[in-house]
Amino acid sequence: MDPNWGLISSITWVKGGLGLLLTVAIVIYWYIRVPGDMPKNIPKVPIYISLIGLWSDMGQDIIYDRWLREPLEKYGAVQIWFAGRWNVLATRPQYLVDMFRHEDVYAKAGSQKKIPWSVIAALVGDNIINAHGENWKLFTSIMKPGLQRRITDSKPLLMKSRLFVDTLIGEQWGLGDNGVSVNPIIQRWALSCMGLSFMGVDLKALERPGQRIEELQTIIKKTLFKPLFFNFPDLDRFPYIFHQRRVAFAIMQEFGDLLCEAVKKRPTTTGEENSTEQVVDLLDSAFKEGKITETQYRNNLKVTFLTAHENAQQLLNSAFWELGNNQAVQRKLLDEILAMDTVEPSVDQVNSMPYLFSVVLELLRLYPPVSQLINRVTTQKSILGGDIVIPNHTWVGWNAFGVHTDTQVWGPTARDFIPERWGQDVRTIQSVVRSKTTQCHFIAFNAHSRKCLGQGFAVLQMKILLFEMVRRIEWTVDPTYDLKLTSGGILAPLMLRVMIKERT
Ligand code: HEM
Ligand SMILES: *[C@@H]1O[C@H](CO)[C@@H](O)[C@H](O)[C@H]1NC(C)=O
Ligand SMILES: *[C@@H]1O[C@H](CO)[C@@H](O)[C@H](O)[C@H]1NC(C)=O
Repeated sequence: MDPNWGLISSITWVKGGLGLLLTVAIVIYWYIRVPGDMPKNIPKVPIYISLIGLWSDMGQDIIYDRWLREPLEKYGAVQIWFAGRWNVLATRPQYLVDMFRHEDVYAKAGSQKKIPWSVIAALVGDNIINAHGENWKLFTSIMKPGLQRRITDSKPLLMKSRLFVDTLIGEQWGLGDNGVSVNPIIQRWALSCMGLSFMGVDLKALERPGQRIEELQTIIKKTLFKPLFFNFPDLDRFPYIFHQRRVAFAIMQEFGDLLCEAVKKRPTTTGEENSTEQVVDLLDSAFKEGKITETQYRNNLKVTFLTAHENAQQLLNSAFWELGNNQAVQRKLLDEILAMDTVEPSVDQVNSMPYLFSVVLELLRLYPPVSQLINRVTTQKSILGGDIVIPNHTWVGWNAFGVHTDTQVWGPTARDFIPERWGQDVRTIQSVVRSKTTQCHFIAFNAHSRKCLGQGFAVLQMKILLFEMVRRIEWTVDPTYDLKLTSGGILAPLMLRVMIKERT
């Protein structure tokens, strides 16, 4: 590849070393150079900021405040290096409305397009979240009724939430004055709720901890967000050099196989009268009718499994942190819960509680689990929001944490946890959510054509859980715990510990 190689070997070792160094420098320069046609009127975030994860575990809130907030709030968008290339990252709502409304121009293009050889692409492939065009229409037509299935019986979710609280109390008993490490238990709760609601199986993750499918989730999350491979996905091309990537590919395969096996063994749903079929049933039929291939079946099953538990899991971690430091919110919630005068709230009952609803929304605002996503590509030269000229085939994305904490968008109290800002009654709150979403002031679930299809379920699930939790326990953050948010990927406090006290 380099005509100098022959020369280098014939000269002295020192000179050879220098030559090698120079070659490496040239390759790196070529690799990280900014394409000449990137937009000129927005600043460029220095590349080392994208690579901080390689040597530090600084939280993404701190990284954002230090290096991204100022340019993004001033210019509305920046050029940023991510996953092996330069991208346009935007936070100005007006730009986001343009991006989210025009999916034909800013087309979804997930890892299967961007880095098809990578571990993450092997995990989720082409699926309902990252597909574009005909495939997306096909997947949506099959899965949407299952994703948006109206849940009328609160019992199954309530029972899992009850078991979750029992487990927390039990764990605290054994620990005395030390805090409970909540994330592993939260993960089991989230897996159970997801299984019951989308896969037609009771995974019994809370009842029987340590099952392989649960264990795999922990491994997968760690594997995907390894900073080196996250930043340089090109390295995934060489699994024969990187043993750990070979292992990673094997893990992804194992997870898919295990999941398919688990759902194959699920009980037939004929017992449930007139209930709309679950996502897994709809995918099964579509595969049997030849509408989708086996790969498409597996990809959509896996992505539903992952997205339907991971986001809720991390949101609940954030809830433990925020409310654990904010006893006033717990007390106000308790008042609203006690006023319902029931320990078995129906779906309509939890949906009639304005404060409960606002707390969930405020958590999503300040701790959006999907805090940043760069998974769209321009299909032609475009002018974002009428301001920023972006060349064809450029990756673009957004940062929800940035939008939600921008004082130009949410006013001087943008960074404060104030559920009341959403409104005092359910109807007002619903209309505020709608208009904030349309304007792209609130993008925890994205907005417009590709917004989250599991939003209704996610909010309901959180309401039921918080109802049960606040009714039975009060909690504080373990005083020896220092907050650290994830440095990339899904936003959440890491390794949080809380002190649980049963209410009497
Ligand atoms: C707190 C919980 C959740 C959050 C914060 C969340 C957030 C999001 C976000 C930000 C997107 C847009 C992704 C993108 O632009 O690529 C999305 C899409 C999606 N979500 Fe969720 N989600 C949650 C729960 C769920 C659940 C429980 C499901 C059920 C399976 C689900 C299913 C989907 C689907 C299918 C899409 C793709 C929609 C499309 O592209 O047409 N989500 N979600
Ligand atoms: C199920 O549907 C049938 C026919 O549409 C109806 O007669 C029956 O009452 C429904 N059952 C329930 C439990 O809703
Ligand atoms: C944009 O780039 C893609 C990929 O390189 C190419 O297939 C497409 O034809 C281009 N579109 C236009 C309008 O030039």
